[in-house]
Amino acid sequence: MCGIVGAVAERNVVEILLEGLKRLEYRGYDSAGVALLQPSGELTRIRRTGKVQELADAVASGEALGSTGIAHTRWATHGGVTEKNAHPHCSSDRISVVHNGIIENYLALREALTAQGYTFTSDTDTETIAHTVHAEMQKGGTLLQAVQNSVKQFHGAYGTVIMDSEDPERVVVARSGSPLVIGLGLGENFIASDQMALLPVTRRFIFLEEGDVAEITRREVHVYDVNGEPVEREVIESNIEHDAGDKGGYRHYMLKEIHEQPTVVRNALQHRVDESGLLPDIFGPGAEEIFSKVKHVQIIACGTSYHAGMTARYWLEQYANVSCSIEIASEFRYRKSVVHENSLLVTISQSGETADTLAALRLAKELGYMSSLTICNVPGSSLVRESDLSFMTRAGAEIGVASTKAFTTQLTAFLMLTLAIGKHSGITEQDQQSIVSALHSLPAKLEETLTITKGIEDLAEEFADKNHSLFLGRGDQYPIAMEGALKLKEISYIHAEAYASGELKHGPLALIDEEMPVIVVAPNNELLEKLKSNVEEVRARGGIMYVFADKNAKFSSDETMRVINVPHCEAPIAPIVYTLPLQLLSYYVALIKGTDVDQPRNLAKSVTVE
Ligand code: AGP
Repeated sequence: MCGIVGAVAERNVVEILLEGLKRLEYRGYDSAGVALLQPSGELTRIRRTGKVQELADAVASGEALGSTGIAHTRWATHGGVTEKNAHPHCSSDRISVVHNGIIENYLALREALTAQGYTFTSDTDTETIAHTVHAEMQKGGTLLQAVQNSVKQFHGAYGTVIMDSEDPERVVVARSGSPLVIGLGLGENFIASDQMALLPVTRRFIFLEEGDVAEITRREVHVYDVNGEPVEREVIESNIEHDAGDKGGYRHYMLKEIHEQPTVVRNALQHRVDESGLLPDIFGPGAEEIFSKVKHVQIIACGTSYHAGMTARYWLEQYANVSCSIEIASEFRYRKSVVHENSLLVTISQSGETADTLAALRLAKELGYMSSLTICNVPGSSLVRESDLSFMTRAGAEIGVASTKAFTTQLTAFLMLTLAIGKHSGITEQDQQSIVSALHSLPAKLEETLTITKGIEDLAEEFADKNHSLFLGRGDQYPIAMEGALKLKEISYIHAEAYASGELKHGPLALIDEEMPVIVVAPNNELLEKLKSNVEEVRARGGIMYVFADKNAKFSSDETMRVINVPHCEAPIAPIVYTLPLQLLSYYVALIKGTDVDQPRNLAKSVTVE
């Protein structure tokens, strides 16, 4: 989704801004722009639709100089993908603005500003920020005061950075509902929507909090809270490893990230589980006491993270003996729900910034949940800061928009949570041992599973010309079938639906013909015989099946069924193991179709608007 980079320095900042935008490309966008101020106050603004490289080419062909600057990648919400709608937006060549989020009352503001004589040159909500700040400046006072007065007029979400040509040595930034991080340099300071953008220039960050407004110059950073009072915000040293230019020899980030899964899962388990079980306090101070009181778990998430939560529901009820509900964040936040006694709210998110999940957490706090835990991949993100407990998935930076390693580390984290809660709610010794032993075998099992890549590449050939597909699974493999279908949709644009296979006869069987490939996930578990009956139902109706099966499950290939053997694994980790072949299938189908694997059309990595 939209990305922001800004800098106040002595040197020319244009390369820093462009490099920052490139590092944010993975979030998804459709146009990009930059505005630069020279110490004289001379303003240069360049905007382009398409990739950041097109902006960089335009910058290279002109004289783009500036020691203060702001830059942006836009993911269109209000107004089409055009140069005039790309950020930065300006008011009277004086105020320049970049903005993430949505100003919901922009129409009313636009009307009022037009009545005051302002002319709008774009269709965006963002342009109202530029003119509102400009109008406030006309009343006298500093840029900081003008921004503080302006934000009181905005409804909605914003992370915004504002420059004034008449005061070219500072920027003012404001955050409400859309994250911003200040990067501290030596004699220069930076701002971005994501720390990833600033890693080449600093590792010291201040994460702004809701309602914060900050004034940034080369040498100073002053932060003011929602009441306009000066506040100290903690400086955090980031240890994120990320070289955005490095695909590690792989053709795409997604493929690299699929192959990283054995390593990142090993990292996720390190110093958390040993042969005897979970190590103490891995969920942080106070967690044990909270877990000892838990009677119900409510999980909230979106997309792939939602599928991780769906899988966790099977585990928490089967092994930890605790009741669990799961809901999509965008539904939860807009309906009246009943809070169970001693209910723990668990959010899951790769980015930690998903607007709907964050709003659901805030709502849950008002509703009176006993406590909140987030399972998240980004330290310092909004969900981490606003939850009572946080548990990091340690997947490392995930650049491909389609989530892969973030998902399998989320599942790994949920197995640890199952052990931690189960300890207080009656997990059996046998189940505890079986989960611990399965977790130990997991990294090696994932390595072994990746060796079946060749068979999947061949399979993808048969698949790539299809328009529709069905994914089937049962029990804790049903969410894995859903995740497999989502992956295929996202990157190959083939329509894919997932069903719990017992549900087939209640409608979806009508779709079966030779043009509808049916993908089945079939570990050797207690539901195998039931699943085999569902497979026969498809076969009897002329369906063509692709079955990912445990080698002991006794499926054999014939003219209607192609079987791909998956290494045998213990039951608790089967959902994690079976995820990998489905990720690989999507990847190789997309490769044949020639789609943009890492940045699929219309999608964004971090969905910071609702
Ligand atoms: C997954 O491939 C998608 N990119 C998407 O469904 C994603 O999982 C969803 O938007 C939630 O994101 P989060 O994990 O950052 O909250």
